[in-house]
Amino acid sequence: MKDTNDRRTKTTALFVCALWMASSAFANNADAEPVGAPGDGIEISAEDFTCLNDMTRVRHFFVDNILDDLEGTLEVAHSPSGGTYPPGSVVQLVPTEVMVKHKPGWNGATRDWEFFELDVAKGTTTIEKRGFVDVVNRFGGNCFSCHVRARPEWDLICEQGHGCETIPITREQIAEIQKADPRCT
Ligand code: HEC
Repeated sequence: MKDTNDRRTKTTALFVCALWMASSAFANNADAEPVGAPGDGIEISAEDFTCLNDMTRVRHFFVDNILDDLEGTLEVAHSPSGGTYPPGSVVQLVPTEVMVKHKPGWNGATRDWEFFELDVAKGTTTIEKRGFVDVVNRFGGNCFSCHVRARPEWDLICEQGHGCETIPITREQIAEIQKADPRCT
């Protein structure tokens, strides 16, 4: 009798576990799906990401705009009082982490930023993870939970002194990581 109960408990536990896995797989999937108005999305693929040196440098980071509005992106990036980055903006600090701005209303929680974790190699970029509030980098840190701490005028861009917690790597180390981007020839 005890045996049957044990088995039943185990079966239930397994079932609950499988359900949990299924629902979290679904949640991840849903996170990867854009949530804005249909037909209004910006298609973003690995080909949109390139060697950092082919982007435009702003201070210690790099920007681009996949909707050909680099001017709009640069205007906000250089603004001493912040602002809202225009749709299509691509922002990178290191080769493997990117933020891309969708159109207004796409994702209210992230102010329309999508976060990407990339795998980069000589000549290739692979998207490892993408999404809005759920993307976790290779060090176990959630992109959104750090970046959301930037004060509102900085539109989730951390830099230094924007309100985010600092990361334990110096600007010198960042410069070395940028130089080592294997996609640059
Ligand atoms: C532990 C907190 C933390 C996590 C996790 C984190 N970031 Fe950041 N990120 C920062 C900080 C702080 C800076 C600014 C560093 C500097 O300028 O010295 C930064 C800089 C950046 C920048 C350059 C623009 C800016 O905000 O200054 C981008 C783009 C970026 N991170 C993307 C990502 C992505 C994508 C992920 C997840 C895959 C991620 N980050 C995870 C804290 C974090």
